[in-house]
Amino acid sequence: MPQPFYVTTPIYYVNARPHLGHAYTTIVADVVNRFHCICGQETYFLTGTDEHGDKVVRAAKEEGMSPLAYVDQISDLFRALWPELDIEYDYFIRTTESAHVNIVKEVLQKIYDSGDIYFSEYEGAYCFGCERFYTERELVGGRCPDHKTIPEVIKESNYFFRMSRYQDWLVDHINKNPDFISPERYRNEALAFLREPLDDLCISRPKSRLQWGITLPFDDQYVTYVWFDALLNYVSALAYPDGERFKRFWPTVHHLVAKDILKPHGIYWPIMLKAAGIPLYRGLHVHGYWNVDESKMSKSLGNVVDPLELKNVYGADAFRYFVLREMVFGLDSSFTEKAFVQRINSDLANDLGNLFSRSLTMVHKYFKGVVPRGDEAPESSLDLDVKSDALKTIQGYEKAMEDFAFHKALMAIWEFINRINKYIDVTAPWELAKKKSQHKLLGLVLYNVLEGLRVIAGLLYPVMPRASQVMQKHLGMTSADICQTLEDLSVWGNMQAGTKLPKTVTLFPRVELDKPEAKGGEIAPAKELSDSSKPEISVQTFQQIDLRVATVLHAEPVPRSRNLLKLKVDVGEERTVVAGIAKSYHPEDLIGKQVVIVANLKPVKLMGILSQGMVLTAADKGACRLVTLDGPSEPGTPLM
Ligand code: ME8
Repeated sequence: MPQPFYVTTPIYYVNARPHLGHAYTTIVADVVNRFHCICGQETYFLTGTDEHGDKVVRAAKEEGMSPLAYVDQISDLFRALWPELDIEYDYFIRTTESAHVNIVKEVLQKIYDSGDIYFSEYEGAYCFGCERFYTERELVGGRCPDHKTIPEVIKESNYFFRMSRYQDWLVDHINKNPDFISPERYRNEALAFLREPLDDLCISRPKSRLQWGITLPFDDQYVTYVWFDALLNYVSALAYPDGERFKRFWPTVHHLVAKDILKPHGIYWPIMLKAAGIPLYRGLHVHGYWNVDESKMSKSLGNVVDPLELKNVYGADAFRYFVLREMVFGLDSSFTEKAFVQRINSDLANDLGNLFSRSLTMVHKYFKGVVPRGDEAPESSLDLDVKSDALKTIQGYEKAMEDFAFHKALMAIWEFINRINKYIDVTAPWELAKKKSQHKLLGLVLYNVLEGLRVIAGLLYPVMPRASQVMQKHLGMTSADICQTLEDLSVWGNMQAGTKLPKTVTLFPRVELDKPEAKGGEIAPAKELSDSSKPEISVQTFQQIDLRVATVLHAEPVPRSRNLLKLKVDVGEERTVVAGIAKSYHPEDLIGKQVVIVANLKPVKLMGILSQGMVLTAADKGACRLVTLDGPSEPGTPLM
């Protein structure tokens, strides 16, 4: 039985709205979680919000709100964003919830009782932005290394956590467990930090200065330092110490963070766990920073990237794919919308989308949409072993995913996509289709192509769950087998010959950066059409028109009319549409044709027949031309 798997994101401060950086870490956690699901493991995925401390109080004050009302509002923004990005967490923790508060108090008391917390007076340089004291050594030119501000000197009696006692133990642990902090550069950074003497950590704030926090169980004049409170979310969410979830998932925990919070996670947290007698986490996985157009994202520069805006324009799958493909986990990356659009067009629309639609179109054309048999021609007659390439792809992908090398995992899939594209070019099914004697071989080729697509769709599931499921549905899978495990994917020949496949769809339409909708609403000046007599309309007005793909099921002349035909069409549902095309088209030539209709026109009666839509045509010197599609599409597909 495979081991369970537990993954966490940082719990985000509620002093700002979610941005690209928060979305990246949470998407990675979702991808890792889904990957372990398809490895057959039972998984648990935790995210949430960090709601105490100075920062939040100051942000609430700026908004003229109470801390509680303010944290409720911002926490909801995070919670509402994740489903938009197809992120499926198991639990969303808030540090203001009572179960968490109680567990923080329990752990503090335990460490206090064991003698690792002491009371002492301290005078030091305090940075309010970081909510912590800095030693002389840590300041850069007398300033906070993060905020570049001169810290205030504060003298205070406070409680301190005896971290120094655990320094040698931690160095030893990191040295003996090379996977404890990864990638290696961050492990080295933590070890470099531990080469200097470790100061004890001030873990309280006097209530005279800050009330918004968890009261210390052993002194009600103090609240807990926000980091000591926040880090404990990873165990409180599992109902430490007696909860079933704690027993089941804690031994397999992996934390995901960016480099900004390496120190609390790589130094404070293991020492806190050790002092509280809780087993250490299995792995801390640290990624780099997203910059925007080469600069740091910041409110003042006005370059903060809103993930929801991008998702609304380009879709969740494309967004997830881009951030995972573009960033090398561990290194910084720069976000540009241009690079995003290029990847959509080249990787998603061209490589993946075209392979998918050209393959299914051939199955529909040569086998009436039924999965052909792949076992009637000898495999050797092709001498092109896609089967073993598929297995190699799965192995390479699995290794890369385990190593958090998501870009490599995706590259492995894309190599295989190119491999299948080449397989089609070399075997040339359109040539095989010309000779009856080659029919069985044609079946073998297309069966292999479909199997290749099944593997591709299955491997894409963690990164693009939506596209993966659409692909699998169009490969004839039922919802029961749509989440294939790596083991299922490794069995070549899983696809059932004889399965009827639905009509193909466009997985990823091409995007143009200059299109107004691709720029998130920025509208380019409209070109004047010389012969246009109609007034200019807005994109919003145009978008009110519901254009849909319709397949003509039946067509007949309308009695007593010279120009009208009565059509029965499939637009996801059956409709009757009356069209003035009888002078240009014979009814029998229209059956099976795919046309475009305006689906939300108010129904009208024409020659006594209720018409539920309008077929789009171009009137060309008295003749009429139907607007059709470049390739087959699912009936009812909307046109953008
Ligand atoms: O630090 N690029 O919360 P936070 C990539 N509450 N990731 C980024 C990023 C960027 N430019 N900016 C932010 C806190 N992130 C604490 C955590 S955990 C017990 C307490 C992501 O809201 C990244 O995951 O400042 C980073 O570590 C985290 O947001 C910091 O979130």
